Amino acid sequence: MSVLEKLSSADAIALEDKYGAHNYHPLPVVLSKGEGVHVWDVEGKKYYDFLSAYSAVNQGHCHPKIVGAMMEQAQTLTLTSRAFYNDQLGKYEKFITNYFGFDKVLPMNTGAEAVETAIKLCRKWAYEKKGIAEQQAKIVVCKNNFHGRTTTIISFSNDEDARKNFGPYTEGFIKIEYDNLEALENALKNDKDIAGFLVEPIQGEAGVYVPSEGYLAKAKALCEEHNVLFIADEVQTGIARTGKLLAVNHENVQPDILILGKALSGGAYPVSAVLANDAIMNVIKPGQHGSTFGGNPVAAAVAIAALEVVQEEKLAENAERLGIIFREKINQYISNSNVVTLVRGKGLLNAIVINDTEDSSTAWDICVKLKENGLLAKPTHGNIIRFAPPLVMNETQLLDCISIITATLKEFEK
Ligand SMILES: Cc1ncc(COP(=O)(O)O)c(C=O)c1O
Repeated sequence: MSVLEKLSSADAIALEDKYGAHNYHPLPVVLSKGEGVHVWDVEGKKYYDFLSAYSAVNQGHCHPKIVGAMMEQAQTLTLTSRAFYNDQLGKYEKFITNYFGFDKVLPMNTGAEAVETAIKLCRKWAYEKKGIAEQQAKIVVCKNNFHGRTTTIISFSNDEDARKNFGPYTEGFIKIEYDNLEALENALKNDKDIAGFLVEPIQGEAGVYVPSEGYLAKAKALCEEHNVLFIADEVQTGIARTGKLLAVNHENVQPDILILGKALSGGAYPVSAVLANDAIMNVIKPGQHGSTFGGNPVAAAVAIAALEVVQEEKLAENAERLGIIFREKINQYISNSNVVTLVRGKGLLNAIVINDTEDSSTAWDICVKLKENGLLAKPTHGNIIRFAPPLVMNETQLLDCISIITATLKEFEK
């Protein structure tokens, strides 16, 4: 079969089913084109994208500036490895460190790699700067976290699907309740070997759990008090998604280590990054960490363009404004609904909680109906649907989407 041959949706699904590992359960829609807030399936049907590739496509599909930067760099130089310098990386490093206010960046490719990098950096800092005895460093994490899929990361997950039969697991993590400062304080007080606290400012995969106001600022203060690094995983919440450049900006927190991925490239290319100041980052010396593709010239050019778009198009401000409208309208709907119990979120990272048992298929069935009605969203853990459209959406489009969502939900009212 030629790659140029036009496939029907059914053909494309059958191919993936037969030749691909079954590690995902996609909605039955086969996309072949994207532009801005829209995607099209192979039969030509147009949809609003209300997932944005799990918040990677914040700048909208195929943003011309990002694609332009990628094409230009791809035709010039794609990869040198870090065995040599390239003329793009330094420019990017200066740009991104100024943009987020850190001394240094360590460039990687995927979110999970960046989380791994942050864990290694934190542990090394703990041994070499904090003076924790060899092999003793621990990192505090939260229940229901999602930080990626590597063996170390799933070691501290409590999602059975993510964890079961992938052991033996990596040691050195202490799990506490999310949004519970007392639990954090107890963990820090009772163990002098704690190196870091790794936290999602909003738990995205778990179902868009927004912590209580003040949680992040107080958690950061507790970390400072105990000489523990505050590590913010903003792979999903970062880069304007929640109505500020970073979700921690809602509480004026500057993390000791910042982890970014996804929208760092606007979804054009895998680009992730770990940012920290010299006192932390300088513990990493040549040969101690790296990646063949990390910091490649295409990634560098794409990330600069993607971050410029966020500023030029005021995407954080747009997310903040549209998010308020979205939750207001959905709340109006909920006041007369027995299908949805709750909408929560910040900016354009939101979720609705479906009024049904955790193991029912209602959230999935609603997403299938939403697809038929021209809007793509996906259930996340439990009976929860996440709504995260590209941040280039305008108000008219948002109102159109809200009409589709509420009309679809009405079909499920008992
Ligand atoms: C908070 C968070 N961290 C890390 C990751 C992992 O990123 P990736 O899938 O690029 O490895 C994700 C992915 O959804 C995420 O939401």
